[in-house]
Amino acid sequence: MEHRGLLDNTLLVHDEHDGQHQGAVTFPIYQNSLFTFASVEDYEKAREQLVDSYLYTRGNNPTVKILEERIAALEQGEQARCFASGMAAISSAILSTVQYGDHIICVDQAYGPTREFLGEYLKKFNILTTFVNGSSMEAIKDAALPNTKLIYLESPTSLLFELQDIHACVDFAKEIGAKTIIDNSWSTPIFQKPLTMGVDLVVHSLTKYMGGHSDVVAGVVVGNKELITNINKNEHLLLGGILSPQNASLLLRGMRTLAIRMEQHQKSAFEIASFLEKQPFIQKVNFPGLPSNPFHSLALKQMFGFGSLLSFETDLPYEVVKEMVNSLKMFRIGVSWGGYESLVTLHRKNDTNIQVVRLYIGLENVEDIKADLKAAFEVLTKEKV
Ligand SMILES: Cc1ncc(COP(=O)(O)O)c(C=O)c1O
Repeated sequence: MEHRGLLDNTLLVHDEHDGQHQGAVTFPIYQNSLFTFASVEDYEKAREQLVDSYLYTRGNNPTVKILEERIAALEQGEQARCFASGMAAISSAILSTVQYGDHIICVDQAYGPTREFLGEYLKKFNILTTFVNGSSMEAIKDAALPNTKLIYLESPTSLLFELQDIHACVDFAKEIGAKTIIDNSWSTPIFQKPLTMGVDLVVHSLTKYMGGHSDVVAGVVVGNKELITNINKNEHLLLGGILSPQNASLLLRGMRTLAIRMEQHQKSAFEIASFLEKQPFIQKVNFPGLPSNPFHSLALKQMFGFGSLLSFETDLPYEVVKEMVNSLKMFRIGVSWGGYESLVTLHRKNDTNIQVVRLYIGLENVEDIKADLKAAFEVLTKEKV
């Protein structure tokens, strides 16, 4: 489906009647590994256009393609390529931009496995990464070397929700001839469109908000035709971490409600973040939507809204905070986020006595979520006394 200037909600919901598939209202799942041809000539033609034709599902599949076109339109990019997981998309995007011996700059708060891939795995190709405080343009600039070929961003980051100045990073990358990649999972294209700010490639864990129902693991890379064609021919086809048609169909379904879900998540997150800010035992609420947050003004420049994954910091002892987390009823303890259900995880802040509680605010009624937190905080206050 081409992006015809439709607004996001319409883009997600409206399909044209194209006269195909008996008018089926949802796009069918092409559950087949290969495609067959009426003649050798047709088969040979398809082989010549391996990336664009339907020959074998590792190369292309109509259900996956529909999803890719929808995501490309949402991100206002030319093309998208889906993968079996966010990490498959991230590692493929990174590999597509660097060669043996190159140097990469990455935000030090980026998702853990991304950091491991960059900092450890790529060493065997003599590709070294410098991790920097992404909120400091000075730190990013200072890290640049003559062989820097990639600046990897994640804005906001997913534990402390720190932002990078995307425009400034893009300008600097262009100056030194490096590419930029950004992990846009937290904001989704509903609330941030990095390609419109000049970023080269956007990656997502579609497992999160895009899927939205905690029932699929998937990823995507979005960018211009040249960069995605390169990924199609190499990392996608050769490493083979493709998205299955079944999972593509689950994503197409989940994304129907992405825009309205994000509106609701944002509303609830504001309410909960403001509530957290008033708690005397909380020293810091990490949510860029709060006017008091140090990244708020930058957020207003480059984002249209806010996701509902946030965290708070407290200097109460770990055991006490653990007891509080255990007493929560509305929040289930678990990794990931972006589904309908509220989630919580507990972290120790590196080299400090600070505990970080990460909350994912789901789609339950916000009053129930707040009541649950209130009850848990009572436990905590009692423990403290
Ligand atoms: C910010 C972020 N990026 C990427 C990923 C990786 O995605 P996946 O688990 O789909 O491979 C995650 C997963 O938690 C994440 O939180």
